[in-house]
Parts: sequence; C-alpha cells; structure tokens
Amino acid sequence: MGIDGTPKLAITTQITSPITGQKPGTSGLRKQTTVFMQPHYLENYVQAIFDGIGGVQGKTLVLGGDGRFFNDTASATILRMAAANGAKHVIVGRNALLSTPAASHLIRKNGADGGLILSASHNPGGEDGDFGLKFNSANGGPAAESITDAIYEASKTISQYLISDQPAPALDTDGTYMLDGMVVEVIDPVTDYAALMETLFDFNAIRSLFASGFRIKFDAMHAATGPYAREIFVNRLGATGDSVINDTPLPDFGGGHPDPNPIWASELVAIMSAPDAPDFGAASDGDGDRNMIMGRGLYVSPSDSLALLAAQMHLAPAYKDGLKGIARSMPTSAAADRVAVAKGVCSFETPTGWKFFGNLLDSDMVSICGEESAGTGSNHVREKDGLWAVLLWLNILAVSGKSVTALMQDHWATYGRDYYTRHDYENIETERANAVFNGLRDRLADLPGQTFGGLKVERADEFNYDDPVDQSHSAQQGLRVFFNDGARAVLRLSGTGTVGATLRLYLEQPEPNLQRQAEDPQAALARVIAAAGEVTQIAALTGRDAPDVIS
Ligand code: G6P
Ligand code: ZN
Repeated sequence: MGIDGTPKLAITTQITSPITGQKPGTSGLRKQTTVFMQPHYLENYVQAIFDGIGGVQGKTLVLGGDGRFFNDTASATILRMAAANGAKHVIVGRNALLSTPAASHLIRKNGADGGLILSASHNPGGEDGDFGLKFNSANGGPAAESITDAIYEASKTISQYLISDQPAPALDTDGTYMLDGMVVEVIDPVTDYAALMETLFDFNAIRSLFASGFRIKFDAMHAATGPYAREIFVNRLGATGDSVINDTPLPDFGGGHPDPNPIWASELVAIMSAPDAPDFGAASDGDGDRNMIMGRGLYVSPSDSLALLAAQMHLAPAYKDGLKGIARSMPTSAAADRVAVAKGVCSFETPTGWKFFGNLLDSDMVSICGEESAGTGSNHVREKDGLWAVLLWLNILAVSGKSVTALMQDHWATYGRDYYTRHDYENIETERANAVFNGLRDRLADLPGQTFGGLKVERADEFNYDDPVDQSHSAQQGLRVFFNDGARAVLRLSGTGTVGATLRLYLEQPEPNLQRQAEDPQAALARVIAAAGEVTQIAALTGRDAPDVIS
C-alpha cells in the first residue's frame, strides 16, 4: 500500500531502442517465433501499438490468440504492459484463446476500445514456426492503414516501455482479477460467439438436417476453432461426436500447417473423396477466420463459395431481407459480380486484406464480403469468419434440401461458371521474386495487343483503390492482365510470409456454356496458365517449373 492507502503500483519503465522491421503487413506484424522471442521485441511492438493508438489510459481491450507456441507468455506480457500503461479493463479468453472472429465480436459486444490478437493465422506454429500480433480497432476490424502506419512510426522512435512488476494472473479459470489497478476478466472463449451464431442462422433447420442422417466433417486443424466447432456442431446442433476432428488446439498445431486448402487440409480432402464420404466437409485455419468448403468429392473454391453464399444467403434468418451489396478482393474471381448484377445490388472490388471491407461494412453498403484467400464474412463482425461461412452453408443446405454439388451446378447453370485457380511460388529469393514482379510491371503498358499462348491481351494495369467511404487511396495493389474471352491473370507478392518471398498467380476464365462447366479447373484453365507463364516469365526468372501450392 502507498502512504495514502491506495494500492502501490509496481511499474518498471524499461529503457529500450527501436528494433528495425516492426512494420505491420497485410494482417499485423508477423515474424518467425524466435524473432518475437528476442529480448524487448514483443515489448517494443506492444508499446508501439499503445503509443500509435494514442495510449490505453482508461481503455478497455480484448486479448486472445490462436493458442500457438508463445501465446501464453506473450499474453502475460501484454497484460502486464496494459496495466502499466493505465488500461482499465482487459477481457481475455480462457487460456488466452480466442478465434479472430470471436475477438472481433467481443470488441463490438463490450464496446471495447480495441483488441490485441495473437496469431500468425494460417502460418505454421511452434518455436520454429511463426508468431504474430495485430491490433483491431473499436469497430472490431483490423486497424486501418493510417493506424498501422502510426504504430510503425512509433516503433521507429521508441525509447522506453512500461511494464508491471506483478505477474499476470493465471488465465486458466474464468473470473475477475486485479493487476496493478487493471481489471483482468477471464471469460469462456466460446459462449458469446456461439450465442451470436444462434441469432444469425436457423439452428432448428440445421438440427433437423443432422437428425435426418446428414453427415459432416469439420477439421479444426488443431487450432483455435476446435472448441467452437465442438460446442456449436456437436453440443448445440446435435452432430455426431466424430463430426469434428483435430479439435484440440496445440501449440504447434500437431506439426501441421493450419491453412485450409486442398494441399494442407489433405486429411479432410481424403475423407471427402472416399466412397463413404460425409455429405459436407469444412476446415478452418489457425485463428478461425478462414474456411474451406467441400461436398462429396468436390472442392468449392473460395470465389465460388462467395458467389453461392451471396446468391442464397436470404435463406438464413439474419439475411432474409436480401442483399445490400457484395464486396470481393481484386484477385477473387468475378463470379460474385454476376450475382450482384442479377440481384440488382452494387459490387465492390477492394485490395487484398480484410481491413479494406471495414468501411463498406460500417456504412452498411454490403452484406457479404469474400476473398480468394479463403475468407468470407458479413457485417456480424469485422473479420472474416470461418465458422460463420460453414454455418451459412449448412443453413442453405438444410433449407434447400440440395447437396453441395447440386447447389454448385445449379448456381453455375444460372450465373455461369468462373474457372479459377491460384498458383503459389513460395520461399523465392526476394530478388528473384522482385525481378518477376517488377519485370511485369515495367512491361504492362506494352502488353495490350500482344498474344501469349494464343490469348490476346486486351488491357493490363496495376490495381489502385479509392475507398468510396473515406476517399483514402491505396496504390500498387497487384498487377492485372486481361485477355480476350474474359480470361484474367493477376500477379501479387504475398504480404503474410516471413521467409523469402511468395509470388501468387491468380488465374480465371468465365465459362457460360452449361455443357462445359464440369471440367477440372486446371484443365479448363490450361490456356490461361500457359499465357500467364509466358507473360510473367516466372519459370525462367525463378528456376521453378511448377508452383508449390495449387488451390
Ligand atoms: C490475411 C488477411 C486476408 C488476406 C490475406 C492475403 O489472411 O487477413 O484478408 O486476403 O492475408 O494474404 P497474402 O499472403 O496473399 O498477402
Ligand atoms: Zn487466419
């Protein structure tokens, strides 16, 4: 106690100096775990966040992560720093676990000033894997560029950080604890999120579907969604216990790569391709914001999933009044645009990164947003939401009585099909990746009129975005080459990797003819793939003759 009887605060002002490279990428700061574990690295960045957002004095924050290695240590440090910086209240998931969409919901539900989410999303975890930290604003969404810029600036001039000398409370039991005058409220990570889902979807219809023998398999990939999926699908909706697999969050995700695509979710793909496959399969990523959807033997591409959900979401109670608008990231296929045209609503094309949907959602201009990178979501939170997408699919399946395959075939018959694929070239030497990218950028103006692999370039440009709400301008958001017949190739450098560079090549071609809509996308896109190879010179400039991941 102090002399006047108030509790004596035990705070250390730690002298530090800037650490280079603390620049937030597409989704917060993401580095190898060992980088984050270096002395002062995490602390510097947390203080830069606090300073960049104008301090946390008297503020309420949400804290949680995807359970990966270093999640618990980092959470304790952040709590001690929040207390030392004068925060009033931190709401934290039990064992510091919160899926990203659940964290977004908690920020909004509690009127918090923001949240810190510990995750490197779909990147592998463990001491030899990756770690990440991002700040979400009071709307529940990833901080806008103006804020991440301010955080970066703060990281470049930091000279000290504040940290409590007290240990953080153990986070394994729900309850309210005090830390240097700050309230630490440990809550069940699932309850509020599950309750939100019940307000959006027809749980009775899904329960009846499961009761009728409809079988699902959800792969939580040993990451954050396990406890959420078990509570929602098994406990609340009556799916059989074996419907959820790999549902214990592990610090290294069981040695796996929690990225829900056909390569990394190969266990689910095998199950869904077997003769006795369940009716519906899905997977989510490390922090629960991505989703992969499968029918029996059918992988639904994220672009197709967005289009189907947009076309049918009126079947779910929360969206029964119909669509307001649809937004997709630029590299996502044009399938959703045709739904928007048919429904007479606006469509928006944004740069890659969920933060670009924030203003459209806050202004109620769109009901659904989606990205080719396996993200789909609505205005119920300000993050993409893997389990939300799965539940919307289940709601549509339950009400329509159709299979996944029948729904997709009907969709393509109505709107046409966009064959789509993404080819990733991972861990390329940065110089070589830049040579590919900058080489294409330099040639863009000369491309129109030229023919590559039998396809003629109609136009080519670098994508720029003007936000229709706040008029902010985002330049240099990917290179686009438009060929004849609506074919398109897009080239981007990934903004989420931690080692070397990853080139992403996104390829698509519309196919309105019903008779030609059942081909394998790689075969259907062979000409576009060849043309893109020629125009980008990837093989010659990188020495790689095939992509590492095809999705
Ligand atoms: C994160 C963001 C997504 C974005 C993706 C792009 O997951 O939350 O909104 O689409 O990164 O990743 P990339 O590696 O292509 O930059
Ligand atoms: Zn994620």
